[in-house]
Amino acid sequence: MPGFSTRAIRAASRAPDAPQPPVNVPIYQTSTFEVGDAAELAELLAFERPGHSYTRYSNPTHAALEEAIAELEGAGAGLATASGMAAMHGVVLSLLRSGDELIVPSAVYGGMIGLIGSILDRSGIGHRSVDTTDPSLVEAAINDRTRLLWLETISNPTTAVADIAALSELAHARGVMVAVDNTFASPAIANPLSLGADLVIHSTTKYIGGHSDLMGGAVVGAEDRVAAVRHIVISAGGNAAPFEAFLALRGLKTLALRMERHSANALAVAEALEGAPGVARVLYPGLVDHPQHELAMRTFHDGMAGGMLAIELEGGRAHGEAFLRRVRVAVHATSLGSVETLVSHPASSSHRQLAEDDLAAAGMSVGTVRISIGLEDAADLIEDLVGAARPGA
Ligand SMILES: Cc1ncc(COP(=O)(O)O)c(C=O)c1O
Repeated sequence: MPGFSTRAIRAASRAPDAPQPPVNVPIYQTSTFEVGDAAELAELLAFERPGHSYTRYSNPTHAALEEAIAELEGAGAGLATASGMAAMHGVVLSLLRSGDELIVPSAVYGGMIGLIGSILDRSGIGHRSVDTTDPSLVEAAINDRTRLLWLETISNPTTAVADIAALSELAHARGVMVAVDNTFASPAIANPLSLGADLVIHSTTKYIGGHSDLMGGAVVGAEDRVAAVRHIVISAGGNAAPFEAFLALRGLKTLALRMERHSANALAVAEALEGAPGVARVLYPGLVDHPQHELAMRTFHDGMAGGMLAIELEGGRAHGEAFLRRVRVAVHATSLGSVETLVSHPASSSHRQLAEDDLAAAGMSVGTVRISIGLEDAADLIEDLVGAARPGA
């Protein structure tokens, strides 16, 4: 008879027989999976047979999330990653090598600027920063080294909307791949693959999770492209954690409802802030005077424009900082896409890498405040945000 410890470890490792499928995807909280023989393990590690070997390579909870996001984005395959940055890193390194170039929007999420500065520059991968709202500038920036055009469906934080269909057409005509960060829109509002993009990434930390309680990312696209990204992510250790994948799956179930409420609240707040004392400009794609309003309404689902808006305060940096101190309903915190309204100051957080000139080139200033509108009652948000914007309040 084996000793107690041996029996305890064996007894506590036995997976249950569960003939009735659980309503929710189980969290496979295991780093490794038992295999029959060495050949099976070798084949699993090479993705030459279905199944799982080691969670850095794949895991059933990840697989469920990957299939779900791929289905909702209309993609052949998906990959769950540890964060949106791990997804971005995986996509860029799977497509570019030393000597290649990518084009990024001048108004791009600051993490991309960080990725360029910390990894791409030293890897010999060049970049060009372009106002991607003007297709002729994108066309002019493409040269024989260009391999990838990076877009954001709705840009962080200026809310510029990319014409994914037109830009994909012109990029493909020059042999350039297109990857779209669809984090701000979520799959409930936009599906870039259906507009011609090759790969889509998400920070599932944001709308897909929806509750500011997980870190995660995803990549979706054609099977071979996603497999190439998976190889980079495996080597970089950027795999998702099973519990985080479970939370992202839970978030997906209410995504459509949340996006409807985020969009309705954001439109009400944007309309109230337009012309409010102290507010110089409101950028929200749902407003008729937004530069890409018509494009947004043509390509986004059900007239929704999401929950992100940017406002320009008349009093510059000091006014921006005062606004953040004054809010009572909204929370001053970085990140976005959650049930609670979050306000942040890009010049000192997500875009702190940019000098004032670069902020201007990206369509921002030191007085720009980013607001991620949550699911609170619209009247409370309007009172809070209009009040916080009032000069000298
Ligand atoms: C548009 C966008 N893409 C990607 C990311 C990176 O995601 P994560 O923080 O999950 O790495 C963020 C984070 O703020 C983001 O706003």
